[in-house]
Formats: sequence, structure tokens, C-alpha cells
Amino acid sequence: MKDAEPKRYFLKTFGCQMNVYDSERMAESLAREGYGETDNPEAADLVILNTCHIREKAAEKVYSDLGRLRDMKERRRKDGKETVITVAGCVAQAEGAEITTRQPAVDLVIGPQSYHKLPELVARSKSTRTNIVETEFPGDEKFTRMKAPRRIASPSVFLTVQEGCDKFCTFCVVPYTRGSEFSRPVARIEAEARELADAGAKELVLLGQNVNAYHGEGAGGRSANLAELIRVLASIGGIERIRYMTSHPRDMDNELIAAHAEVRELMPFLHLPVQSGSDRILAAMNRKHSAAEYIDIIARLRKARPDIALSSDFIVGFPGETDQDAEETIALIKAVGFAQSFSFKYSARPGTPAAGRDGQVPEPLKGERLQRLQAVLDSQQTAFNAQSLGNAVPVLFERIGKSGEIVGRSPHLQLVHAVGPGDLVGRTARVAIDDTRRSGLSGVIAAA
Ligand code: 5AD
Ligand code: SF4
Repeated sequence: MKDAEPKRYFLKTFGCQMNVYDSERMAESLAREGYGETDNPEAADLVILNTCHIREKAAEKVYSDLGRLRDMKERRRKDGKETVITVAGCVAQAEGAEITTRQPAVDLVIGPQSYHKLPELVARSKSTRTNIVETEFPGDEKFTRMKAPRRIASPSVFLTVQEGCDKFCTFCVVPYTRGSEFSRPVARIEAEARELADAGAKELVLLGQNVNAYHGEGAGGRSANLAELIRVLASIGGIERIRYMTSHPRDMDNELIAAHAEVRELMPFLHLPVQSGSDRILAAMNRKHSAAEYIDIIARLRKARPDIALSSDFIVGFPGETDQDAEETIALIKAVGFAQSFSFKYSARPGTPAAGRDGQVPEPLKGERLQRLQAVLDSQQTAFNAQSLGNAVPVLFERIGKSGEIVGRSPHLQLVHAVGPGDLVGRTARVAIDDTRRSGLSGVIAAA
């Protein structure tokens, strides 16, 4: 590649919102280095896969993509063009040099704590023509050193406040891939939030693998919890909505529950994964709470904020799960009533305690249990959305949809489609809901 030509990057993101946030920050730092973005990998000098390691399927997808990218790199080489293939994210962190062994076309493997070095490492890989693997754990360096100005694609923005996890659920790779808990200082988060608000952000989605375990440095060097952080961010002019995810039931403290009652900007929605409704399985998962304790937390949240809507993650087919355990999960779902949820078949992850356990559940049985569980969750979601019919719901509009309608989110995180002027994007307007389905709501603008 000649230096005079504009450099272009292609970036594909797998997995959770934390990866989406990291990808946005990588894009910002590449833009600062003069890179333009392309959605066509064939046109890219730099290809980045920001990967997910949480379930086997997600991780294997990366290798099939890499196979195609190897062929593409070869085609481009014949045309006299260089391509740097980069694997970032949790597969990079977990597998490191194994990736370049399995797919030698990969030039750079970079873990989530090293993204501030991305442009430098890309340049080094090009000049040395060697594979580089960078998966150190240097703590907070990444956040302080990725100081490109924030770009805003939507009025709703992700803001990572915490990374890593110390909970060690026995099915989960996160404590190994993202390391132990680290919370960013309040002042740094506040500064980033102000910058986002100045750029037009209306909603902050605070992210962390275990976000409600947040304990960052606050005023006077004291440790601040998530409730305190939320109150600081809610006072920033222009910030109308705050959400946070993902939380652990054990860290749902009284102050955070009180914030749901008192902080107007905190949206009446909470993603609080329970994983299973069976105490036996919860113990085997090392979740550190019972089904009854989860239901009690929900009751206290509803007392604080009666209209709060709930969402959860579920795993079916954890080793040792019986039909009775699966029924107990369905019973918990019926007792709580979820507005939406994510559910997965258990996937044995190398290096996690549950992976080698006896009582692995056969795939077809996992499939049956998942179907049964999803049928109940789907009907709850449909029923939850149906309650909005005829209401005038405040919607923060985020984008223009495929067929020209405007699309946003309700306070309960429901997707709302409405017919209305495009200049409502970035603003909140009331929508009179005239149609509901499982996937969301639609209606007409009632008032801006
Ligand atoms: N198998 C299936 N699902 C998993 N999750 C995490 N690890 C696994 C696994 N090994 C799910 C959990 C978690 C969500 C992000 O992914 O439900 O909350
Ligand atoms: Fe994984 Fe459990 Fe930590 Fe969530 S709380 S990231 S499921 S170990």
C-alpha cells in the first residue's frame, strides 16, 4: 500500500455491548490516525474482528470468518495490496498465540486491555511483518490513554464504567478473559459523560460485566458505588435517561434500589440475570443466591419503582440439570414476569469449572428445554408489550428506519416505530401506541 492512499479499516463486532463500546473507541482512535471506515472487507487495509468467547458458537464463528479473510488477504496481495488482519476482544484475550497458530494469516492479536496501543501495533506489524500478540492486563491504562474525542452515532450511548468480574460463576469465561473487577474513577466517567452530553447524547447506558459491583474512586478519594455514580451523572445537563447493565443479584444493594425510586433519569428497566430458578443449580453455578432471594430483590425493586420492567438471562442444560430443575426455572419466570429475556443452551467452555463436570445434558434435551422456556418468555414479552396499547409513551428517537419511519426506545427499552419527521431523531416525543407485537410497539406521534 502506498502511503498517499487513504487507509481504510473494516471492523466487525461480536457479542455484548462492552464490545460495541470498545469497537466505537477503536474506531475513534483509528479515525484520529487518518483511517476511514469501510463496510466492505475487500476494500480494507486493516480488518478487525472484535470477538466474543462466551459460548462456543460465538468463538467458532471467528475462525470461519478468519478462513474467508485469509483468502481475501491472498487475493489482495496478488493485486499488490497489504492487509493487516487483527483479532481483538475476548477470543484474543483467551486464546492469544493459539489464534495465529490456528490461522497464520492473522497479523495481530490484541486483548481488550491493550486497545490504546492499536494504531502503534498495526504499524509495527506492517513494518516488521511478524505476528504480534498483545494480551497484557495493565489495569486502567486503556481508558486513560484512549483519549480520542467521542463521536455520537445515536443519542443513546454506551459508557463503560467497570470491567471484569470476581464472581466466578462456574459456567463463565469472563473472569478469565476480562480479568478481575476494575472500576473507573467517578471523575473520569463524569468527564466522558459531559463530553458525550455536549456532543448531543441524551441517554447513557453504563456498562460493566458486573456493573452494580461498581466501586470507583469518588470525591475525596472515597470509594463510590453505582448508586452514587448514577446520581452524579443524572445531574449533568442534557442527560435525560440513564440505564446500566449487566448486574448481579448479589450486588443489588439498598442504595441502588433507592436510586430507582428517587432518580428521575434512571429508567424503569433492569436487566438482572438469574440464570436458573433451581436452588440446586444456582448453587452448582456458584451464583451465591437462592431463587427466593432473587424474587425478594424483585419485590423490593417493585416497591421502590412500581412500573419497573425486568429482563434476565437464562441458561438451560447446565450439568446436572433435571426436568424438575427446568420446571423450577419456568416457575420462577411465572412468579416474576419478565418484559424481555435472553436464553441460551449451556455451552461447556474450556477452563471453567463446570465444563468437566458429570451430568452434561445431551444437546437435544437442551433444545427441548430451551424451546419450552422461550415459549413462556415470548408470551410474557408479548403480554408486556400489549399493556402499552392505547398509551402515549415517551420515546427517545435514535434513528431513521429502513422504510423511513423513526425508531426509538420507550422507558421500558421497548423498540418503538413511529411515523414522524426525521428531525425528531435525538429528541423525545410521545407516541400514541396503536400496535404491539412481541418485538416492539408502533404508533403515531402524539406530542413532541
Ligand atoms: N453457556 C451458555 N450461556 C452462557 N452465558 C455465559 N456463559 C455461558 C455458557 N458457558 C450466558 C449467561 C450470561 C450471558 C451473558 O451469557 O446467561 O448472563
Ligand atoms: Fe460471568 Fe457470573 Fe461474572 Fe456474569 S457474574 S460475568 S455470568 S462470572
